Amino acid sequence: MGKKGNVAIITGASSGMGREFAVQIAQNYPSIHEFWIVARRRERLEELQEKLLGRRVKILALDLSRQEGIDTLEKALAEEQPRVRILVNAAGFGIIGKIGKMKEEDCTGMVDTNCRALTAVTHITLPYMTEQGQIIQMASSAAFMPQPGFAVYAASKSYVLSFSRALGRELAGRGITVTAVCPGPVKTEFFDIAETYEAVKLYKKLTMARADRVVYQALVDAKHGRSVSVYGSLMKGFRILAKFLPVDFLMLFVK
Ligand SMILES: NC(=O)c1ccc[n+]([C@@H]2O[C@H](COP(=O)([O-])OP(=O)(O)OC[C@H]3O[C@@H](n4cnc5c(N)ncnc54)[C@H](OP(=O)(O)O)[C@@H]3O)[C@@H](O)[C@H]2O)c1
Repeated sequence: MGKKGNVAIITGASSGMGREFAVQIAQNYPSIHEFWIVARRRERLEELQEKLLGRRVKILALDLSRQEGIDTLEKALAEEQPRVRILVNAAGFGIIGKIGKMKEEDCTGMVDTNCRALTAVTHITLPYMTEQGQIIQMASSAAFMPQPGFAVYAASKSYVLSFSRALGRELAGRGITVTAVCPGPVKTEFFDIAETYEAVKLYKKLTMARADRVVYQALVDAKHGRSVSVYGSLMKGFRILAKFLPVDFLMLFVK
């Protein structure tokens, strides 16, 4: 079925920004005929299907942190040979707390999902991306500097930012753009998991952005082929500070 029209593949579509990407792409991209929506919670994906304005929808209830999940997606791609116009990698999570105080699987789970799964999904989807295709990768403003107390998450998002910028250069010849989305805190279910061990800092609570606005900005930036999308002047300012001030100095404040 994928051969007939342009497809958008969205991971992490069962909630938060991934879900919002699906809804806004359905509303604003008439050239997308089909959605492949991926996450573990099937019932949430079924609910989302109702919001996608009658487009064809392929629900893939997969755990992307496991190789079986990646293999299932790869098999579906090989079978259906879709013309992928937009790939959004939004599946991811973060857990606040010191490394020594967390379970090992929580630490490595962030790397598995935020880095490994994102890399694998990108890699297996690339052969099916059309010219003028867009890859949108959810990084974070946490990518801009190391964060004591959120160390693995920040490092995983630095990976996403670095990987995405380099990939954008590699793909320039194919007319495919790659946009790393780097918002500050966004009001989503993210924090239900993030606060497993420790509460989110007050300054983050007070600066939370709306998911629909972050996603709208990301889609505008992707359309313009921008390599990085940062929502809001606060986070744009933070990005500049993180570029020019010494990391040790900045980390005093994060602590
Ligand atoms: N919220 C923030 O403050 C913030 C800020 C900057 C960047 N981000 C990043 O933005 C992305 C989206 O986060 P969000 O805020 O929208 O959080 P969210 O509402 O918790 O959404 C996370 C999504 O990832 C999916 N997911 C998690 N682990 C998965 C796995 N192993 N396999 C498949 N899907 C998986 C979840 O679905 P299931 O649970 O159904 O699998 C869910 O759909 C993440 O990469 C996050 O790191 C978030």
